[in-house]
Amino acid sequence: MNYAANSSTCLERILQDLDMEGLTKKDATLFTRRLREHFNALFEKYTHVYGHQYDCYFHLQKLIEILRDGVRNRKPSLKRIDAERTKAPLWYRDESQVGMACYVDLMGPTLKDLHDKIPYYQALGVTYLHLMPLYDAPKGDSDGGYAVSDYRKVNPTLGTIKDLEALATALQKAGIDLVLDFVFNHTSDEHAWAKAALAGNEQYQNYYYLFDDRSIPDQYEHTLREIFPQVRRGSFTYNEHMDKWVWTTFNSFQWDLNYSNPEVFNAITSEMLFLANIGCAGLRLDALAFIWKAMGTNCENQDNAHVLIQAFNTCLQIAAPSVVFKSEAIVHPDEVVKYIDKDECQLSYNPLLMALLWNSLATRKTRLLTRSMQKSFSISPDCAWVNYVRCHDDIGWTFDDAVAQELGINGHDHRFFLNQFYTGRFNGSFASGVPFAENPENGDCRVCGSLASLCGLEGALNANDEKGIDDAIQRMLLLYGITFSIGGIPLLYSSDELAKLNDYDYLNDPIKLHDARWVNRIAVTNSDTEFALSAERSALTVQEDASLRVFRGLQHMINIRKTNGVFGNAQTHIEESGNDHCFAFSRKNSDGETLLVVCNFSEHAQIVDSRLLTDRNWRDLLTDAAPSISEHGVLLRPFQQLWLSPTP
Ligand code: GLC
Ligand code: GLC
Repeated sequence: MNYAANSSTCLERILQDLDMEGLTKKDATLFTRRLREHFNALFEKYTHVYGHQYDCYFHLQKLIEILRDGVRNRKPSLKRIDAERTKAPLWYRDESQVGMACYVDLMGPTLKDLHDKIPYYQALGVTYLHLMPLYDAPKGDSDGGYAVSDYRKVNPTLGTIKDLEALATALQKAGIDLVLDFVFNHTSDEHAWAKAALAGNEQYQNYYYLFDDRSIPDQYEHTLREIFPQVRRGSFTYNEHMDKWVWTTFNSFQWDLNYSNPEVFNAITSEMLFLANIGCAGLRLDALAFIWKAMGTNCENQDNAHVLIQAFNTCLQIAAPSVVFKSEAIVHPDEVVKYIDKDECQLSYNPLLMALLWNSLATRKTRLLTRSMQKSFSISPDCAWVNYVRCHDDIGWTFDDAVAQELGINGHDHRFFLNQFYTGRFNGSFASGVPFAENPENGDCRVCGSLASLCGLEGALNANDEKGIDDAIQRMLLLYGITFSIGGIPLLYSSDELAKLNDYDYLNDPIKLHDARWVNRIAVTNSDTEFALSAERSALTVQEDASLRVFRGLQHMINIRKTNGVFGNAQTHIEESGNDHCFAFSRKNSDGETLLVVCNFSEHAQIVDSRLLTDRNWRDLLTDAAPSISEHGVLLRPFQQLWLSPTP
């Protein structure tokens, strides 16, 4: 293909040469229409990144063939979903939405077994199931599946692609969307591309960042953050076989892909469309902040990373338009929001809310939470937060130091305190967490642990402390209650709903031992789910009782969320509660429905300013009762949250 400087000339030339033989007439029309609609955007992004390369147009032409094949391979049932969702694109803002993330082996143990779990998901109101990476991966350590050896093959211990498609269909029938991981920053060193590189194939060596000696890696490392310092210092790994240094941001067996090579963009787009065509509603963009490298920077959140993600998104608009992106950017809050846009990632994890909920539990103070949410919660009305409390990873304290500074909090010292608090090293802490990725040089670390253990249940059970158990349960419900009500998709992390304690078994497994995140990757067995679903049971142990109280408490809140439009597409306003221990926000939707949420983060009763209530009468949706109001204000019990709805 010859040089074509503007997008319309370029498109016409591509269309002239494009072989549409394999497409039905209907598909050919559909594809051409979408291509005409989106080509200009794709052209701009693609040439922005690759335009200076002599063969840019050749690769762009190849990319269009990949998109054509994506349309050809898309099942009619998925095309129907494309049509429906294009008409109602904001489905993810609906109050009916509730997510759950789980590992197949910890809940299945195979994909086939997950069919039996559908009633359990339904009992919790789950509408979106994120299955953690389930692709073929190296035996032994595979970073919990995040080292992918083949995107087109399910890990044989979990099943097959056919099983996955069958599950997607069954979930769909039950009103549950499938969400899959798209691990596109790196592959495992056993991926066919890596193997070819290892064998000396230069084309595939260019798929990765390989260096003959330390000189360039040393220059990069001046400004790079170390992600897993417990595994290896620095971001590069020496490979003896090739006698080269490989860029490995995460584990040494996870090789970063080289997106400055357009062939990589094209190849991974093809993998992405394969995943989209399995039948998922969303792709979780793993580690997306790291995909572009630039000397002298920290190689995170670079402008071209955004341009590339937008280009991927445009590819989906053309080939699988019902599939949305969820951003996993666990970075500075000002950088997190830059990924959120209807043309980039429609959904994003909300790591700031997550971290600050834990901060407020530890400090019993809400000023940092309130200020930070006032600054960062509001995003485009076309997009939605995915609000979570725990996940399979560690907790990093990614708040904005400048906001903390305004409140007289020193970010560095405060992170140190939070780490001490949640790893139980701080006197009087209720939490049983485990440090992760401790950096021997600067003492930094992050925190692992299950919801229940971090909320104090483990310690309280060990101490036979009834009040401690009660407090722990209230803390769990409080944190989740905020994710259900503040706006966005709440995402349950499987095992949280049953208040499962830390699983220390990983310490007995030499493959897992170095990675404390396994402490919060916890099995939910058949007997657990049967227990949760069975009606009244007598003779519960103290722990079973706690588990059931959390399960039912969550169910109760989810039911309320689903039956009230104000929890769906509405605007959130973060309020001043007038009390340092309390967090408050209000919501309003276009039907004029409103909600006022007030939460007490301390183990003592608190009073908030009744001016928050304006002059209306309110009812608490959680207790179906009027709030207690005295001359001093609204009374909240320890850890109480009020979901206040105005009464006529
Ligand atoms: C993401 C995943 C994490 C993994 C990393 C590298 O942060 O959540 O589990 O280790 O990416 O893929
Ligand atoms: C990503 C995140 C980091 C997280 C890690 C996995 O690098 O930025 O916060 O801890 O993945 O553990």
